[in-house]
Amino acid sequence: MDVMNKGYAPFHDPTLPDVVMPSCPIEKKLRGQTALVTGASSGIGKGIAIGLGHAGADVVVNYISGEDEALAIVEEVKRCGAKGYAHRADVSSEDDVQAMFARLQDEFGGIDILVNNAGLQQDAAFEEMTLAQWNKVIGVNLTGQFLCSREAVRAFKRRGVREGVSCSAGKILCISSVHDVIPWAGHVNYAASKGGVSLMMKSIAQEVAPWRIRVNAISPGAIRTPINMAAWSTQEAYQELMKLVPYKRIGETDDIARAAVWLASDDSDYITGATLYVDGGMTLYPGFETGG
Ligand code: BGC
Repeated sequence: MDVMNKGYAPFHDPTLPDVVMPSCPIEKKLRGQTALVTGASSGIGKGIAIGLGHAGADVVVNYISGEDEALAIVEEVKRCGAKGYAHRADVSSEDDVQAMFARLQDEFGGIDILVNNAGLQQDAAFEEMTLAQWNKVIGVNLTGQFLCSREAVRAFKRRGVREGVSCSAGKILCISSVHDVIPWAGHVNYAASKGGVSLMMKSIAQEVAPWRIRVNAISPGAIRTPINMAAWSTQEAYQELMKLVPYKRIGETDDIARAAVWLASDDSDYITGATLYVDGGMTLYPGFETGG
């Protein structure tokens, strides 16, 4: 387990449990702030929800499936002294998203941090990709981020900057992917959605900056979660994957959570419209490690 936590293992046994976050850090940089993390019942969203809770934020754990997991994450947030609840909503539905933000307003009086994390893959060879597969992925990964960001911006503007809580009126983090710049054969819908997230994020950032609202993205590389289990759950697959990762280890959800806490905190106050690649160098053209 120690090796797992350090993340140096050359190969990850899928039967081992998820990496456990370090117990609640003393420094509660996000105390007094409310965060909504979409798609937070598993994978990267789960790691971010726990990380924000450990940093002192109250956390709304949005999920579409995995209610028990979502409730367990809320318990972990509460264990660290913050508040939270789980809320089921489909981020691609305008009605669901508006109801989710209305409840947030009632229960917490507003929102400080939105993490647009909900995302999925529906892979197919391009000529076999159905319109349903295309629409589903664009609907959740891109339209979902649009709908949640729009509600968050409305809420941030209503409340403005709160002295003593944060320098900004609100922060949005868009969870994108290295595939917002790396083309991905067999995943055209997914790469298109993430490329869309990238310029949507920058355009929103430009528009809302005068209201002291910051909008940034994190683009993860290969992170050990259920979405890409096929890429790390056997020794052979893991070795293939490492050809694409100069840092020679798979990422853990904690790697993303730490970046998210930083981008949500005032430590990154002058940063907006930026994309942080948390990918062990996957975007460094690993094919050029030799040759060229
Ligand atoms: C995808 C994963 C993939 C990773 C690196 C992510 O955005 O969801 O399936 O392993 O990119 O290619």
